[in-house]
Amino acid sequence: MWPYPKIVAHRGGGTLAPENTVAGLRAGVAYGFRAVEFDVMLSRDGIGMVVHDPAFGRTIAGQGSVAQTDAVDLAAMDAGSWFGAEFRDEPVPFFTQFIDYCKAQRIWMNVEIKPADGFEAETGAWVAKITRDNYAAELAGGDPAGYPLLSSFSFDALAAARDAAPELPRGYLLDKIPADWQAQAKQLGAVAIHTNQKHLTPALAAQIKAAGYGLFCYTVNDPARGREILSWGVDGFCTDRIDLIGPAFT
Ligand code: G3P
Ligand code: MG
Repeated sequence: MWPYPKIVAHRGGGTLAPENTVAGLRAGVAYGFRAVEFDVMLSRDGIGMVVHDPAFGRTIAGQGSVAQTDAVDLAAMDAGSWFGAEFRDEPVPFFTQFIDYCKAQRIWMNVEIKPADGFEAETGAWVAKITRDNYAAELAGGDPAGYPLLSSFSFDALAAARDAAPELPRGYLLDKIPADWQAQAKQLGAVAIHTNQKHLTPALAAQIKAAGYGLFCYTVNDPARGREILSWGVDGFCTDRIDLIGPAFT
């Protein structure tokens, strides 16, 4: 059985606030969400920051990259203006800020490990260790809904997370499900497959569920499509349209 929330706000607050910011988390809470997906990448000095793109230019103005910038400098950058003037100076959050906010607001987290190229194992291990250290009591409590689910497209990042904190659950992100998905998932000790809803079929969904894995989709913004994939046995999905698809969506 899927022990996690069914509907999850994508990148913080979906499209209602700048992605991967505390303002996004606030938007999710305002719409009743207590479940969030977001992306974590390491800074130059090896600190996990909540950001999606390795390079500046889209959500952070200017040139450069996350992996070549220290955390303190990233935290001083404006990750809000691209979305709207009212979000000017909304900072790039530290992962630990997201943990603190989510714990205080009782928000469940799907932490996507998003390594810059060449930093797969380092990022996976760092995210797993910090998450485990911050959720020690919840892990001891034994209720999976009380602690985060890690996920990644990177096999190496998830393998490193498994080795660093095997007790944390892992979801394997696959854009298209390859023929050998089960062998890979087994090696990672994954509890779930996270996949692109665009490529999912009823047969694949049935195969994944029959093998005993959780099945989570990204990113569903059309309520009709959401109902369709739920009818195929999908356990949950993330959405950008937190205004259209609420936490109680069926
Ligand atoms: O974790 C699901 C989804 O966030 C994967 O795609 O590019 O939005 O991180 P992306
Ligand atoms: Mg993501």
